[in-house]
Amino acid sequence: MKERLEEIKVKALEAIQEADNDKYLEELRVKILGKKGELTAILKGMKDLSKEERPVVGMIANEIREIIQTSIDKKKEDFKWEELKNRLIEERLDVTASKDLVHIGHRHPLNQTMNELEDLFRHMGFSIVDGPEIETVLNNFDKLNSPKNHPSRDMSDTFYFDESTLLRTHTSPVQVRVMENQKPPIRMVSAGRTFRFDEVDATHSPMFHQIEGLVIGENVSMANLIDTINAFIKNLFGEEFSTRYRPHYFPFTEPSIEVDVSCFACKGKGCDICNHTGWSMELLGGGMVHPQVLENCGIDSEKYTGFAFGMGVDRITMVKYGLDDIRLIYDNDKRFLQQF
Ligand code: PHE
Repeated sequence: MKERLEEIKVKALEAIQEADNDKYLEELRVKILGKKGELTAILKGMKDLSKEERPVVGMIANEIREIIQTSIDKKKEDFKWEELKNRLIEERLDVTASKDLVHIGHRHPLNQTMNELEDLFRHMGFSIVDGPEIETVLNNFDKLNSPKNHPSRDMSDTFYFDESTLLRTHTSPVQVRVMENQKPPIRMVSAGRTFRFDEVDATHSPMFHQIEGLVIGENVSMANLIDTINAFIKNLFGEEFSTRYRPHYFPFTEPSIEVDVSCFACKGKGCDICNHTGWSMELLGGGMVHPQVLENCGIDSEKYTGFAFGMGVDRITMVKYGLDDIRLIYDNDKRFLQQF
């Protein structure tokens, strides 16, 4: 009987060792230790043993029972750990997936240009002023000497909210606000978004940006305007760039000028980009503030004179970075923006 017990033990331990799932382990337990199990059967048969043998076999049988039970418990514990390990692997969160979210960008090339322009003028003694994008028709047109029959006032030329409010078509109304609220001397620039009813193409966008300057004082002259613009252009683009002045017309300046700057590709020698003229056309507009505009804004035009100038920031950005399509600025394509 002792041999039989030993045999059961060895077989059971082997089977437990080989078990590969919980269910099979439970079946083994029932088969060996259960009510109708092999070991139980042996214990039941003990009544046929002699008085001396009974306690010895009983002790061995109980020992074996304990060994088998401990082995099963241990195996079950192993299975539990195995399952936990598998779940941890399966349900693992890949926290590195959001790596892109912390990518630190940089300023848009348009804003870089705008900041650079403001910085240049600040160093030249100008103050920086902000104005609203929603303006009155009065500030945008009337006070700037653009009467009701002026073509730029056509309803289809800009975006109106009602008869008296619109999205500003230029930054010039900020000049009106400053002149009405400040006594000369005045030396200010204002940059920001402007709007016109334009179809989108390579050089037009219904929303674009301008920067505008105004200087008012006693004895301010056209020579001051030209000197200021020359200094500004050389600061912005480099000493080797020169300027060319052409007469022009704006309702709010008299006389008015338009300014060309030497071609950025060939620096004035003449190439395909500048049509062999050596000049980048129409980079700036300006002139002496019309006396009527000064009067409209409460400034004595007998005592004071002033000059104003304005330019497209998008245009300057395009020239500066050699862009051939304004849409690139607004598409927000990271592949494009990352280059600057
Ligand atoms: N406001 C003018 C424009 O939008 C530019 C300009 C500004 C011209 C100031 C003269 C003086 O075209």
